[in-house]
Amino acid sequence: MAAAAAVGRLEMAALAWLALSLAVVTAVDRSNFKTCDQSSFCKRQRNVEAGSSPYRALLESLQLSQDSMKIQLINEANKVPLLLELYGLKGNMTRIRINELNPLKPRYEVPDVLVQDPPTTRLSVTGRDDNSVELSLGEGNHKLILTAKPFRMDLLEGRELVLSVNSRGLLVFEHLRQRKDSFSDKVSSTVVSIWDRIKNLFSREPPKEPASEGEGAAEASDAPSSAEQESTEKTEQGEEAPKGASETEEEPGSWEETFKTHTDSKPNGPTSVGLDFSFPGVENVYGIPEHADYLRLRTTEGGDPYRLYNLDVFQYELYNPMALYGSVPVLLAHNPQRTLGIFWLNAAETWVDVTSNTAGKTLFGKMLDYMQGGGETPQTDVRWMSESGIIDVFLLLGPSPNDIFQQYASLTGTQALPPLFALAYHQSRWNYNDEEDVSTVDNGFDEHDIPYDVIWLDIEHADGKRYFTWDPNKFPRPREMLQGLAAKRRKMVSIVDPHIKVDSAYRIHNEIRSRDFYVKTKDGSDYEGWCWPGSAGYPDFTNPEMRAWWSSMFGYDHYEGSMENLYTWNDMNEPSVFNGPEVTMHKDAVHQGGWEHRDIHNLYAFYVQMATAEGQVKRSGGLERPFVLTRGFFAGSQRYGAVWTGDNAAEWDHLKISIPMCLSLALVGISFCGADVGGFFKNPEPELLVRWYQAGAYQPFFRAHAHMDTTRREPWLFGEENKALIRDAVRQRYALLPFWYTLFYHSYRTGQPVMRPLWVEYPQDATTYAIDDQYLLGDALLVHPVTAQGARGVQVYLPGKGEVWYDVHTHQKLHAPQTHYLAVTMSSIPVYQRGGSIVARKERVRRSSDCMYNDPYTLYVALGPQGTAQGELFVDDGHTFSFETKGQYLHRRFSFSGNTLTASSADPKGSFETPAWIERVVILGAGKPAAVFLKQKDVAESRLDFTHEAETSVLTIRKPAVNIGADWSISLR
Ligand SMILES: *[C@@H]1O[C@H](CO)[C@@H](O)[C@H](O)[C@H]1NC(C)=O
Repeated sequence: MAAAAAVGRLEMAALAWLALSLAVVTAVDRSNFKTCDQSSFCKRQRNVEAGSSPYRALLESLQLSQDSMKIQLINEANKVPLLLELYGLKGNMTRIRINELNPLKPRYEVPDVLVQDPPTTRLSVTGRDDNSVELSLGEGNHKLILTAKPFRMDLLEGRELVLSVNSRGLLVFEHLRQRKDSFSDKVSSTVVSIWDRIKNLFSREPPKEPASEGEGAAEASDAPSSAEQESTEKTEQGEEAPKGASETEEEPGSWEETFKTHTDSKPNGPTSVGLDFSFPGVENVYGIPEHADYLRLRTTEGGDPYRLYNLDVFQYELYNPMALYGSVPVLLAHNPQRTLGIFWLNAAETWVDVTSNTAGKTLFGKMLDYMQGGGETPQTDVRWMSESGIIDVFLLLGPSPNDIFQQYASLTGTQALPPLFALAYHQSRWNYNDEEDVSTVDNGFDEHDIPYDVIWLDIEHADGKRYFTWDPNKFPRPREMLQGLAAKRRKMVSIVDPHIKVDSAYRIHNEIRSRDFYVKTKDGSDYEGWCWPGSAGYPDFTNPEMRAWWSSMFGYDHYEGSMENLYTWNDMNEPSVFNGPEVTMHKDAVHQGGWEHRDIHNLYAFYVQMATAEGQVKRSGGLERPFVLTRGFFAGSQRYGAVWTGDNAAEWDHLKISIPMCLSLALVGISFCGADVGGFFKNPEPELLVRWYQAGAYQPFFRAHAHMDTTRREPWLFGEENKALIRDAVRQRYALLPFWYTLFYHSYRTGQPVMRPLWVEYPQDATTYAIDDQYLLGDALLVHPVTAQGARGVQVYLPGKGEVWYDVHTHQKLHAPQTHYLAVTMSSIPVYQRGGSIVARKERVRRSSDCMYNDPYTLYVALGPQGTAQGELFVDDGHTFSFETKGQYLHRRFSFSGNTLTASSADPKGSFETPAWIERVVILGAGKPAAVFLKQKDVAESRLDFTHEAETSVLTIRKPAVNIGADWSISLR
């Protein structure tokens, strides 16, 4: 729920923030959120224009070890030295870290996001001259040329330039400094300066003091005479410019920044970092969610950069670069030859500029001209700017989209394999009012014969928004309620938000306070903000002890009334603070270790979901897989559950944008994504609701949800016709659950997205690059939901030269590539199966996914142009870690060629017993055989019944009745 949504119901009407929020009720109040110009560091960074970099690499300081290269960079303007570390990583990745050589105090480095210390490759120097060093990066014929002055780095594969760093000279690193013009600062400045001198006595590295830099540099290097001379020059300049001086220091906003009624004290002053990257030959860039924008990123020239700052944006607007609830600082660059990625590991407020020279102005220098003979090579430049921390960036070198997914997954992990039920349909609303309401809605699904798996309880279920409790009047018997659902093999999700009511009668609050687990204000007291419960504290989820405690609260003994079939929803975890700056936490609030909220902001939600998911695992003794939905997220959040696109609205454009929003997340590791079906705010007209169910049924996370002020919208409230349409959409989802589950398993194993932009499978087809009204599920299904009001048809682009696609409803065969016009009615959900694929379905749809668990399968074999097809199926118990810990799973492979369909194991490490069998095989694009035979090991060949429709070339083979885990073959003769 968005901050201001139900304020009328809260007794806070007198608060100033309320007036602000209510001023605009129909769309986002943009004035609540900063533009780049209003964010002092973004403005300072952006004021630095492309040109010659003031940085110079001190070649004489270069140190090469087994796995890294270290070199100092000096800013010629202020003489502050930086240390650059470069690593070649296994799997075609390069990591660049830039920090101050001698920061006044440590700068924040993001922990816990990487799943391991990335394994390195051996670097070697392969060339050197007065102004550059050439390094071999160990793998994939990749080389890096570091130019000393002006500092830049160019990454090559063979002789081809792939990516440049700081080629536009936009490396900006605001070093920590003492504030001038204040008595106490002067004193501490003197202390620091003395301390520095003492350190310098022992340090072999060039110290920060300009006066002694010449000595230091000479000492640390082979001291070629020219370097010595340069150092001397610098010293002279340095004496004129006192330590730490820079033009940024005097700028307003450097040491204190006011936005609306909030003042951000900046005890550390300006600390931002920025760097630019150039992609020669690239015109398509993607990623850096979360924004309500197109899939393909647009240039930001003349507007604001894309902003990454987790925020609770009330009624967000579409098609703009404003920040939303989550941030994944990963950008993909793509052209027909290769895909590249940049992972900017920084959790502070970040802005990303995208510029392009496609107009013909090449910003690139003579390197490109030399390598590629000049000319009008298209190029995209991106510039990253973060408020604090260090520069820690991973260059993912591909070259294919799948290589990028694997590379990124090796750094931050893959999508957690959800429990099967989580892929089914979820019914939510703010709020299901009481136990009776829950029971009525639950029964409604049975009466109207619509499957569903999970019913959700929003904030009103808790006792006065005290999470981990139940409202004693509305939910007096939660266990009975949960048992009732369990009897129907259904689940429940309750909301647990990270704002904790400040109330001395609330156990959770008291425990957090007594353990000193709350985030602190800059003055050291517990930070308090307004949120749903009124005054609330915010547990410090960056503290591992706090997280362990939080996890333990999900134990059945701690969370009273909870049961095995109760799962969790973490909302408002940006964190949302109604009366905070930009509706979030003050940047000068303090976390464990003394870090400012500024440093960790975009990580907060990541940690909330992590601790919650771990709590669910823990309560089951480590056996059961968790399900946690989160609104806020960061790189790596895929390891902990699902995300949704937050508080959207019942508008056609919101339905439409759910596709690029989830595709953008899928590209950066987060596959388990969905949007509130029906739209959160406002009341959808029936047509929109139906279309939303149809689209949602083919998106990874499928949940209907609605704001408290909307009229009820359970699927049976819109007349028989609409109910039937919704039922059909939901049933299509349930039939495809085996396929979804297999896709998620694949994603868990490989990092490949479940929902994919077309260009991921057709990287050379430029027609696909900007398509975001249709997408692929795995590589087998192409979905083009109807997202326009009153639509009579859709234009579906079917990719793949020489390929064929089959309409899954009519089985019509279509040749690709083509743009196919499909006439639609209200029942149409345009979905196509790729020729050459095999998809498993369960077509006896029941009350819930669990009820269908042992049901038989139907295999849909869609023959490709060569008359072949393959597909896979993953089966396990659907809810435990046994597939991982005990090898209890089936990973089956189906393959059709030479008129024979064969079932075999795709992975002999797994084994699993299931009674489920195959009841039907449907072969699309098949001629009529004379006979069909089934062959199993040690069993006599048997004839199978079949029917053949000549008009559509569909062969249906009935009752092979083989176990899904068995090896067999079916031949057409
Ligand atoms: C690394 O890059 C090379 C050359 O582009 C490519 O052939 C190889 O498959 C890549 N390896 C990985 C693990 O991505």
